[in-house]
Amino acid sequence: MGEADFEFTFIQPGHALYEAELELRFRVLREPLGHTRDAVKFPFEAQSLHLVAHQGDSVLGCVLFHPEDSHGGRLFQMAVTPHLQGQRLGARLVHALEAELVRRGVTHVHLHARQAVVPFYERLGYSVYAEAFTEVGIPHRHMEKSLAT
Ligand SMILES: CC(C)(COP(=O)(O)OP(=O)(O)OC[C@H]1O[C@@H](n2cnc3c(N)ncnc32)[C@H](O)[C@@H]1OP(=O)(O)O)[C@@H](O)C(=O)NCCC(=O)NCCS
Repeated sequence: MGEADFEFTFIQPGHALYEAELELRFRVLREPLGHTRDAVKFPFEAQSLHLVAHQGDSVLGCVLFHPEDSHGGRLFQMAVTPHLQGQRLGARLVHALEAELVRRGVTHVHLHARQAVVPFYERLGYSVYAEAFTEVGIPHRHMEKSLAT
């Protein structure tokens, strides 16, 4: 038998998988920085696309996208559960998100990459621009990519 595969589902706040998505985001992206659960949600949560990778009701990865205008927006809250990191789930999530964005006519994606994760996004075709900055207390870089139309 091969490895169990994942389902990829776009959800919204209120979906049955949303609380599990928030818990994953807290554990992977906020708890290691000493932040509390109330620091997990963004103000544009409801306006964003939420793509989750799951096995049944177990959410193992996610990536979000906030549309900022008719052709572009910000990828954020990219997270893979620790025991599955390095097995291409992150790359699969970004590819699946980008395919949906192309269908929606989005041509430009930007993101705030933690400095240590810049090579992950570079492999996916994103490029660094502008100066380094600090966010959630750690160094970040602005990155962007034009999607094929
Ligand atoms: C960053 C993260 C989302 C990457 O997902 P992943 O499933 O572990 O990564 P993948 O296995 O899909 O990696 C894809 C490629 O990027 C490379 N890569 C992944 N993380 C990397 C890193 N930190 N540094 C260098 N290369 C990295 C992989 O080696 C792989 O290379 P390949 O194309 O030659 O095989 C995941 O490790 C994670 O959740 N980390 C903690 C949270 C975090 O930092 N999120 C990003 C905030 S900006």
